[in-house]
Amino acid sequence: MATAAAYAALFDGSVPPHGVDLSTIGEFLRCSMGLSAWKQYGASRWALRVNPSSGNLHPTEAYIVWDRRVRHYAPREHALEERAAVARWPHRDDTFLVALTSIHWREAWKYGERAFRYCQHDAGHAIAALRLAAAMLGWRLALLPRWSHGQMAALLGTERDGDYGDAEREEPECVAVVTAGDPSAWLDRDPEPLAQSARAGTWRGTANQLSPDHVPWPIIDEVAEGTRSPGARSTPGTPGTPGTPGTPGTPSPPSSPGARSLVLQRRSALAFDAQSALTRDALVRMLHRLQPVGPPWDAIGWPPQAHLALFVHRVADMTPGVYAYLRDPAVLPEWKAAMRPEFLWEETGENLFLLVPIDCRRAANRVSCDQDIAEDGFFSLGMIARFDAALEEYGEGMYRRLFWETGMIGQVLYLEAEAAGGRATGIGCFYDDPVHELLGLQGHAWQSLYHFSMGVPVEDTRLTSEPGYDWERSDPSSSSSSAAR
Ligand SMILES: Cc1cc2nc3c(=O)[nH]c(=O)nc-3n(C[C@H](O)[C@H](O)[C@H](O)COP(=O)(O)O)c2cc1C
Repeated sequence: MATAAAYAALFDGSVPPHGVDLSTIGEFLRCSMGLSAWKQYGASRWALRVNPSSGNLHPTEAYIVWDRRVRHYAPREHALEERAAVARWPHRDDTFLVALTSIHWREAWKYGERAFRYCQHDAGHAIAALRLAAAMLGWRLALLPRWSHGQMAALLGTERDGDYGDAEREEPECVAVVTAGDPSAWLDRDPEPLAQSARAGTWRGTANQLSPDHVPWPIIDEVAEGTRSPGARSTPGTPGTPGTPGTPGTPSPPSSPGARSLVLQRRSALAFDAQSALTRDALVRMLHRLQPVGPPWDAIGWPPQAHLALFVHRVADMTPGVYAYLRDPAVLPEWKAAMRPEFLWEETGENLFLLVPIDCRRAANRVSCDQDIAEDGFFSLGMIARFDAALEEYGEGMYRRLFWETGMIGQVLYLEAEAAGGRATGIGCFYDDPVHELLGLQGHAWQSLYHFSMGVPVEDTRLTSEPGYDWERSDPSSSSSSAAR
């Protein structure tokens, strides 16, 4: 099946709910974690996915728990692989669970200790991709903070040493409920009976080993252990509460193309044309999607911790310069007090403040690891998170969640770029100390956690492109994706 929702409908909850069956679960996965293209250059051929990933290394694995089965999603085949049959599934037919794990080694072989946070960024992108795919089907999705690390490991079988042998281990990240109904009843439900039932289930399959040799990165294991979910009490808030669908007064994009084709066409720009401009209205519309109202923000249970320092280069009717965008206006006094006292904080409307009018193209390039994509687009930005206070308020597990939040921001902006006729790129490689210095931030109270850029792309015409799956050759945006093959 293929969904027909308009892009704008993803954010206002107006899509009528589809039933839950293998075909609609297949569509949910296809539009979030599936392959979106095969690229080729010379003899090299590689797949790209609906969800982006640092270095295209894709450490994030997805699992579906439904109908007394635990199944692993295999994106290349668009197949569900059965891992376990469990006795207990006392839940409604219109509801299933989706869970994510990370395989740190997929990033660590290339990025060393930075791999841990890249895995968390990717998990955040995946959470938003899943939430918006659920919205495409008229479903709700909410993370379940009561699940502890141990309970997730039991449910997904990642604690089963024998199934892994010498293969790289998977680290559980989160479990979410997906439902055509109301997810709120799930938030307080005790996970233990289902975890117990999974422990006693009938398991099958073993993991594939990625590489025979490994360089140890003990710090990754230490951070993973130190930030694991302890379960309910010290994890933040109630997912679903900011999720009241519909934002009164949200400006809609001028045209509202099909959500499915936009989601499947999302790509990272490799270069921008260094001349095209965005309108101020379009920028404001995009930023409005980052306010914590409706999808994907109803998937998580904590108020916004990450705000934006924007490097505005080419936006019509806007003075180039450094701007602050607040995702929660209440943070203004706290953030202002932490920043350079000489900043103007000139209110330009819509939670957007001009800090310093300046041509910041070179500075943006420099702080983003000397990448031209930070200079040549409409704008680039740093996502600046309340750090010490967030960890203190919500516990060590919040370390991962701060990166998830920034990945979610990135995922929304990726889609907004496509909807505006542009393109975006996540920037995981940046120098955080110079960013903090530029903004006047000291200590760890605020930390730059992720960068991002947007503009009009310059295509690499040497690459050829094919659809993600053979059966979509005729029309990748509208053909069916059969479920679990
Ligand atoms: C967390 C994260 C960090 C990234 N960092 C960079 C970066 O620093 N520079 C860059 O050119 N692309 C960066 N990318 C883009 C990836 O290279 C891109 O997502 C990947 O190659 C897959 O391509 P696709 O997004 O077109 O599917 C990043 C993407 C993510 C999700």
